[in-house]
Amino acid sequence: MDLMEYQAKDLFAKHGVPTLPGDVAETAQEARAIAEEIGGPVVVKAQVKTGGRGKAGGVKLADTPDEAAERAGAILGMDIKGHTVRKVLVAQASEIDAEYYFSYLLDRTNRTFLAMASVEGGMDIEEVAATKPEALARIPVDALTGVDDAKAREIVEAARFPADVADQVVAVIGQLWTAFVAEDATLLEVNPLVRTPEGKIVALDGKVTLDENADFRQPDHAQLADVDAANPLEAKAKEKGLNYVKLDGEVGIIGNGAGLVMSTLDVVAYAGEALDNGRGGSVKPANFLDIGGGASADVMADGLEIILGDPDVRSVFVNVFGGITACDAVARGIVQALAMLQAQGEHFEKPIVVRLDGNNAEEGRRILDEASHDLVELIDTMDGAAGRAAELAAQGA
Ligand SMILES: Nc1ncnc2c1ncn2[C@@H]1O[C@H](COP(=O)(O)OP(=O)(O)OP(=O)(O)O)[C@@H](O)[C@H]1O
Ligand SMILES: [Mg+2]
Repeated sequence: MDLMEYQAKDLFAKHGVPTLPGDVAETAQEARAIAEEIGGPVVVKAQVKTGGRGKAGGVKLADTPDEAAERAGAILGMDIKGHTVRKVLVAQASEIDAEYYFSYLLDRTNRTFLAMASVEGGMDIEEVAATKPEALARIPVDALTGVDDAKAREIVEAARFPADVADQVVAVIGQLWTAFVAEDATLLEVNPLVRTPEGKIVALDGKVTLDENADFRQPDHAQLADVDAANPLEAKAKEKGLNYVKLDGEVGIIGNGAGLVMSTLDVVAYAGEALDNGRGGSVKPANFLDIGGGASADVMADGLEIILGDPDVRSVFVNVFGGITACDAVARGIVQALAMLQAQGEHFEKPIVVRLDGNNAEEGRRILDEASHDLVELIDTMDGAAGRAAELAAQGA
C-alpha cells in the first residue's frame, strides 16, 4: 500500500525524523485555517499517489492564509497523471540551502535492502540518476544488521554529504531505518531532504510503500487505506477476506484456486468474444473471485453476495474443481448460500451457471439437481458452462 505524503510525514514524525508543521485539508477553508495556525508562508501540496506533482503545478507557495486558500482552491480537483486531487497538505514553507535525495528500498534482484542517496536531490533526481549515475550512491543494507551508526556513516560518505551536516544526516537516516523496519515498509523515500540556511536537516517530502503482507502485525495501518479510491465492491470483499478484483465485463466469476479462476476468465472472454454486450463491445468477465480451498456455505454466500451486488453482472459462472474440498460440500454451500441470501431478503434474478468437477462431482450435481433452484443451471464442461454464462449475459443486455 502506497501512502500519501501527509501520511508519510506523520509516520516520519512518529519515529523522530525532522519534518515541518502542517496538516491535510479537503477544502480551501480548511487550508486557510491550517495556514493561520502555522503563521507565515506555507506550501500547498497536492496529495496524490504519483510523482512529479511539483512539475505538474501541484506544489505552490503561499504567503498569507488567503493566498493559501486560493492556492488550495486551484489545486483541489486538479488532475495529475490521471489522479484527481482530493486533499492538499498545507505545510510550513522552509528556506532551502540544498536539496538532497535519500531512500531505502527492497532490492529483490539482489535479495537485500538498498540505501540510495545523493546530494543532487530535488525534482530532477530521475535525470540525475539517468545521466550521472555516479552522483547517486547505492549501498546494500543487510536485513540482519540493518543501519547502525557505522553503516549510516558509510552511506553519508559514499554520497559525499557535506561535513557540516554529516552528523545530522547520520542521525536522520538512522531514524528513517527505524521507521522502515518498524512499519514494515518496502520503500521509503525522502526527496528532497533539505538543508536549511541555519544548517538544519529536514524531510520536506515523503513517499512510503507499506508491505501489506505484514498487515496482521500492523493493526494501525488499516486506517491508512484510501477508502475513497478503492472500488466499493473490492472494499467489501476485502472486509470479508475474499480475493476479489473488479473487472469491467458482465459475467460474474467464482472459482476455487487462483489458477482455475484465471483460466476461467480466459475461457469466458473467449466464449464472449462473438457476443454483443449491448454497450458496443463483447461479453467479458466482470470480476476475479477466488474462494480458495475451503469453500464453505458462508464463503460461497459472501462471494455470491458481492457478485450479485455488482450492477454490471448479468450472469454468474461458478466453476469448481473439487480437491480437498469435495464438490458435494461446495454444492451444499451453493444451496445454503442462496437460501441465506433469500432469507436476508436479497432479491436477485441473475442466472447462475455451475460446473462441478473433481472429487465427488456426481454427488455435488445430484444435490444441485435435487434443490432444482430456478436460477441455477448445471453444465458438465468448463467450455460449455462458460459459453452458456456468456450467452445468458448477452441475453440480459
Ligand atoms: N515545505 C516546503 N517549503 C519550501 N519548499 C518546498 C516545501 N516542500 C516542497 N518544496 C519545494 O517543492 C519542490 C517539490 O516538492 P515535492 O518534492 O514535495 O514534490 P515533487 O517532488 O514534485 O513531487 P513528487 O515527490 O511526488 O515527485 C521541492 O523540491 C522543494 O523545492
Ligand atoms: Mg519530491
